[in-house]
Amino acid sequence: MTTNSVASSDASQDPASFEEIRAQGHRMLDDMLDYIEHIRERPVWQPIPDSVRARFQDGMPSAPSALSSVHDEFMQFILPFATGNCHPGFMGWVHGGGNTPGMLAEMLAAGLNANLGGRDHIPIEVERQIVRWMRDLFGFPDTATGLFVTGTSMANLLGVLVARTAALGIDVRNTGLAASSERLTAYASSAAHGCVAQAMDLCGLGRAALRIIPADERHRIDLAALDAAIAADRRAGCKPFLVVGTAGTVDIGAIDDLTMLAAIARRENLWFHVDGAFGALAMLAPDLAPRLAGIERADSIALDFHKWGQVPYDSGFILVRDGALHRATFASQASYLRRESRGLAAGSPWPCDFGPDLSRGFRALKTWFTLKVHGADALGAVISRTCALARHLEQRILATPQLELLAPVQLNIVCFRHRGENADQLNARIVADLHESGIAAPSTTMIGGHLAIRAAIVNHRTGQRDVDALIEAVLALGDPVAHRAA
Ligand SMILES: Cc1ncc(COP(=O)(O)O)c(C=O)c1O
Repeated sequence: MTTNSVASSDASQDPASFEEIRAQGHRMLDDMLDYIEHIRERPVWQPIPDSVRARFQDGMPSAPSALSSVHDEFMQFILPFATGNCHPGFMGWVHGGGNTPGMLAEMLAAGLNANLGGRDHIPIEVERQIVRWMRDLFGFPDTATGLFVTGTSMANLLGVLVARTAALGIDVRNTGLAASSERLTAYASSAAHGCVAQAMDLCGLGRAALRIIPADERHRIDLAALDAAIAADRRAGCKPFLVVGTAGTVDIGAIDDLTMLAAIARRENLWFHVDGAFGALAMLAPDLAPRLAGIERADSIALDFHKWGQVPYDSGFILVRDGALHRATFASQASYLRRESRGLAAGSPWPCDFGPDLSRGFRALKTWFTLKVHGADALGAVISRTCALARHLEQRILATPQLELLAPVQLNIVCFRHRGENADQLNARIVADLHESGIAAPSTTMIGGHLAIRAAIVNHRTGQRDVDALIEAVLALGDPVAHRAA
């Protein structure tokens, strides 16, 4: 009996009827394509009813359900209450819009169920091909290495870890920081993303070891202040080891002077890491690429394909000039991960030698599909267009007396506010009202001590009418008389 039950295929999760699952699969595909095709007819975002939220308190199901009924549940209770970043009216934070080739590639990747930690298979060659494409894009040498990760927060952490190895030697991996008498210090501007400080925290160097350098009026790192901070740290016996430049700051899209940062890094013998979460891919846009001059001299670059690259989440990436050092920072030996010169265990070095993850999905495939199907030029054109839309929004704000621009528009991000008493409160309310209206979803940030409405135009679907709709809605919601009457 026992033998029989083990031998039976009852435990298999493969469908009893491939005909049925094919039909169901086609319905699921149709639903998602309908969602994208008719995305404009939906609200960008909508408040989640308590009854919907409560459904997700249910315990773990022990009994099976039909795929069709779980899919119905998805359609009714999950899909309508997502973030909304596929919608052209979504302009909050820095969210990409995703695309259909990427979505379909995700399905193929899941079907293949490849583990890209290592071993000898073509999915890893796909990732390596993208590494080569990125080397070429950023003018890195053939010895540079790269890796897909979740996002730029993780890519920045990896960059800091490689920089730490460069400063202290690979022994630090065994002895830990406590064994070192060196007090490492790093530098980034006040406009750098918070994940840079978090990376310092996570790798044990501590947030305080990141010196926050003031930014100038265009939100770029103040180079004289950077020089002074490095000199002061050296006088105090610290060991400056890393400078992080930003290509596209999260608040307003400023680009640090990367050429000067590269020169300072070389002079001071610092690792030069560029956080190019969204901005680095401006290299694909001929009108914007010159603004990134100096990025080709970085030691490492972090970027996300899931932002301006339009690849569905998640698709972060790190590129490291010194591939040997990159590998030395992460590679570990284990008998169960023995490398061979032939068979499935060949193909070393493996991606797990370049980062902390051993099990890794096939993130590269949706990026590969996106680049192949659309082509790099079209992606660059989308990037340029989002910047042109930001300039259109800027012009509309400048031409509207009730509105005030709060920061110079440098790329695709526009920070502004509605004038009025208690402006911070007023603008926070406008943004929450906007979200609940479903018309548009900008986010907020603080600029010069003022709460700003922040529109980051990232999505390839966003057009002038969406930007105009944002302005009209802000004016309608910010008009105190209209608001009182509502
Ligand atoms: C400049 C910058 N760095 C880092 C990040 C973090 O990237 P991720 O959310 O992919 O981890 C962001 C996110 O918007 C960013 O704009």
